[in-house]
Order: sequence, then structure tokens, then C-alpha cells
Amino acid sequence: MARASMRVGILTAGGDSPGLNAAIRGFGKSALGHHGMKIVGFRDGFRGLAENRRMTLDSTTLAGILTVGGTILGTSRDKPHRMTVDGRVVDRTGAIVETYKANRLDALVCVGGGGTAKNALRLASAGINVVHVPKTIDNDVAMTDATIGFATALEVATEAIDRLHSTAHSHHRIIVAEAMGHRSGWLALGAGIAAGADVILIPEIPYELDSIAAAIRRRTKKGTNFSIVAVAEGARDRSSTADPTDEPPADDGLSTLGGGHVGHTLRLAQQLEARTGLESRVTILGYVQRGGTPSAADRVLAARLGRAAADYIAAGRFGVMAASAGDGTLAVDLDQVAGRRKTVDLDHPWVETARQVGTCLGD
Ligand code: F6P
Repeated sequence: MARASMRVGILTAGGDSPGLNAAIRGFGKSALGHHGMKIVGFRDGFRGLAENRRMTLDSTTLAGILTVGGTILGTSRDKPHRMTVDGRVVDRTGAIVETYKANRLDALVCVGGGGTAKNALRLASAGINVVHVPKTIDNDVAMTDATIGFATALEVATEAIDRLHSTAHSHHRIIVAEAMGHRSGWLALGAGIAAGADVILIPEIPYELDSIAAAIRRRTKKGTNFSIVAVAEGARDRSSTADPTDEPPADDGLSTLGGGHVGHTLRLAQQLEARTGLESRVTILGYVQRGGTPSAADRVLAARLGRAAADYIAAGRFGVMAASAGDGTLAVDLDQVAGRRKTVDLDHPWVETARQVGTCLGD
């Protein structure tokens, strides 16, 4: 098939993240300029695809978006096979295939996280030529070194925790900073190390309250009467049987905010105050970590992965993720990615580094 005749759709799905527009730009400029393809944007993830909600993508619409946060296409968490339409959950895979054919598409790029990889694999089995580009501030997509958005979120969370040191030492307080990451602790661990948190709690290491309190009390005994606790929203007490993804009980009336984990973090702060006698305060970093202009690292990653997606399509390589592998990229079969999650290994160098510099990891 002559490359010039190829028509390719692109959508962004799942949580937004910095760098999405840089990925759209990297793919788009490579597809249009280098490969001579035609491209079509679809709005709001898989829902826009099912409803054929197109957006023109050309040199004009791709201009000026590199530094813009969010996604010019819009996004959603809708799944092709379980989409709510008029209050009913229906399978819209057929409608998506119709859109694909009606637009005479030769391929579809899906920029998103682990859930998007699963949905892209489903569409591949429905006969659509898909390439997935990994994006999430959680950095938890399997088989890729990095995901678009994580580097920026790490910078944002680190800067926030740096700033929280001021009020902690001025008021002799425990400041609990909640980072995003409901099933993986990369963001809390990375920002905690970068910002010198005294305690870092991640979902992969269920914590003991008494261990944390003892570590804080040891600091107080040495004359340092403040502590910074970086906690991933999915971190849990060892005695908790709750799956981090379960919505915490709404008894505190706050659990529906911030992705559904605020109540747990507030309770943790109260428990530490009771055990240490130090006042505790909470800051939920929340969606600030997903906002604003992408860092240079994310812009380079997004351009690399977007360009790789265009190259794989031009080469007829479908059903794959454009994975980051060192300075290069790898086409990884989506059945190696879908349904898997990259969580923090207990012997990961970041974990060993945190321990070795004296950080309490709650165990
Ligand atoms: O998946 C990325 C993420 O930001 C998680 O860290 C967070 O728990 C979740 O999205 C929030 O989901 P939503 O944007 O739907 O509230």
C-alpha cells in the first residue's frame, strides 16, 4: 500500500496528562510530513470514535500545541465494549468499526494508559489496525520504560513537597502529602526521594502505623520535630483488607473527592498525630500533578513515541504499543501489555535508595 494513501485516526483516552498534545503533534507531524499520510482526530476517547466525532488535524491545528497541557482532542474513560448510552451499558465496538470504515481509515492510534492498551487490543480483535502510545502520570504501563506524563507529574509533585517543608519546620508539624497513584507508587516514591520526604508510603508496601510513628518519634528525639510523609493515594495499612481501588467508605463525606482516596489520607494524618503528639496537616496534590505544560523530558518522550507510532503504521506493524526502550522505541505486542501493570518491585533501586538514605517506608 502506497504510504501517501494511508489514512490514520488518533484519539486520547483515560486520564489526561501533560504531554498528550506533544504526542499528538509528534505523531501528526511525522505522519503528515514524513510519511505523507492523512490523519483524523477523534474527540473524547472511544466515545467520540463510536459517535464519529471528528476533529481536523493538519499543520494548522498541530501548531502551537506542544506546550499546552491536557489534550486538544478531549478524553474520556469510556470503554468500547461497555459504554453508557441513554443510561444503558452497551457494546459499541460495532459502531467503532463502522466509523473506522466510514472514514476509510487504515490504522488508529490510541494514546492512553493500561486500560487503553486493553481497549486497543479489543479493537484489534475486531479487525482494526491499532497502535497504542503509553501515557499516564502513574508510570504503571507494563513493557515500557516510561509513560508520557510521569516526568512532568514527578516535577510538579517534587516542587510541591519541597514547598511543604517550609510550613512543616515552621510549625513543627507532620505534613502528609498525597500523590496520585492508586495501584502503583512510582509518583509518591520518586517525588518522595527527590524532595527528601522522611516517610514514603506506596500501595506495594502495606504500612504499619506504629513503624511510621516510631520513625517520626526518633526524629523528634534527635531534635527534628517535623516530618514530611509522601503517600500514594492507594497506600494502605497492613491490617486493611481493602483493595486500594475500592472506594473508601463515604462515612467521612470526603471520600468522593480526589479520585476517592481522600478519606484514607485524612485518617492516616489523624492517626499519626495521635501516636506522635505532633500536629498533622494534609495536602492532596491531586489533579495539579496532571496539569499544565509538559516538562522537556515528557516532550521528548512524547515526540519519540508519537513518531514511532507513525513509523510502525507506515511499516504495517499493528496491534502493538510504541514502547520506550532506553533512547529508542520497541513495538511490543499488545497482548504482552494488556491486563498487566508495572508496579514498584520491593527490590527496585529506588526502594533500596530510599531505605539507604534513611527514609521510612512504613514497614
Ligand atoms: O490514572 C491516572 C490517574 O491520575 C490516577 O493516578 C488517579 O487515581 C486517577 O487517574 C484519577 O482518575 P479520574 O481522573 O477519573 O478522577
